[in-house]
Amino acid sequence: MCQAIFNPHFCTNPEFSTDLTAAFERPDISGCHRSFSEYQPTPLVTLPALAAKLNLGKIRVKDESRRFGLKAFKVLGASYAISRFLEKNPPGDYIFCTATDGNHGRAIAWTARRLAQKAIIYMPRDTVSARIEAIRGEGAIVHIVDGSYDDAVRQAVEEARKNGWQMIADTAWPGYTSVPADIMAGYTTLFSEMEQSIHSPDKPGIDFVFLPAGVGSFAAAGVWYYLNRYRHNRPRLIIVEPTEAACLLESIRAGEISVSRGTLRTIMAGLNCGTPSLLAWPFLKSGADLFMAVPDKWAEEAMRAYYYPTGKDPRIISGESGSAGMAALLALLKSPALSETKQKLGLGPDSRVLLINTEGDTDPDGFGQVIARKKDL
Ligand SMILES: Cc1ncc(COP(=O)(O)O)c(C=O)c1O
Repeated sequence: MCQAIFNPHFCTNPEFSTDLTAAFERPDISGCHRSFSEYQPTPLVTLPALAAKLNLGKIRVKDESRRFGLKAFKVLGASYAISRFLEKNPPGDYIFCTATDGNHGRAIAWTARRLAQKAIIYMPRDTVSARIEAIRGEGAIVHIVDGSYDDAVRQAVEEARKNGWQMIADTAWPGYTSVPADIMAGYTTLFSEMEQSIHSPDKPGIDFVFLPAGVGSFAAAGVWYYLNRYRHNRPRLIIVEPTEAACLLESIRAGEISVSRGTLRTIMAGLNCGTPSLLAWPFLKSGADLFMAVPDKWAEEAMRAYYYPTGKDPRIISGESGSAGMAALLALLKSPALSETKQKLGLGPDSRVLLINTEGDTDPDGFGQVIARKKDL
């Protein structure tokens, strides 16, 4: 079942922890990314035929499916956090450790190898083999934990502490905030790249942004970017999670950090997290407009909408988690249960929508199966 909750805690002029906003405002973030020869701004694609079919003004997609050749945006965070760590510490051989559903771990493994360091990665039990092999292919050691993503985080922390490894987690908890703040800061490059196209100094050039969320670090980076740059002119910010792992929707309902009540069974592996990040939560609580949870069938529908383009629109390869923004948009437009939400949002023929395809086909077999089931909801 789709769920949508307008944010009752929304605040037009929120005050955020200055430690964190200072991290976001560091001048070296995009310079760090540019220092990697693989860096290129990712494409901003327009889908005019789909927008016309859905009776929307414009649909733009920031396509992260080839970022640094890694099929996901996550390397923006990993590369910045590891680069900062190496800058602040004496030269040496380090082992970087993390827990992951796939993309963050691959990004850590890639960055570690690229910077002549080592990586050890913990993954949940249900991880598909393509995502495990992609990380091993980057030269990292992978351990599978008999449990969920949250269990993998706990085990990675314990092992890192015991062995003196450097924990580079993309989620924060009490006493562990500085690295995840760097990771979130790294994500802001994705948004600032659009300053060369739609994001002019006083207007964002879009009305709605859909931000997929697991622990919420990425969505919080987006919320900070739009609030900080545009304040009252900011677009409306919609947070999207899988129905079975909707920890942020649960949290906004409760008004405080809460765990997901779902089964943690979803094809959207990158979003399959049971607990919000401590750092992401205040940004999302004060700055997001709407929290949505969508079942897997909408993610599948969205993957096909990208893969089988309407009219002359370009094809986009969007994996299960990458398609979450499109999934929420389609659900808002097509699901009778969400028609009141759609109206209240003001989503219609003049709306300019930004989706972020955060991931390509990171599980090629699963992707192929979804694409083969061609049908409309
Ligand atoms: C493809 C993809 N999209 C979105 C996210 C969500 O990021 P976060 O966990 O920071 O909310 C992830 C997280 O791993 C991901 O892999």
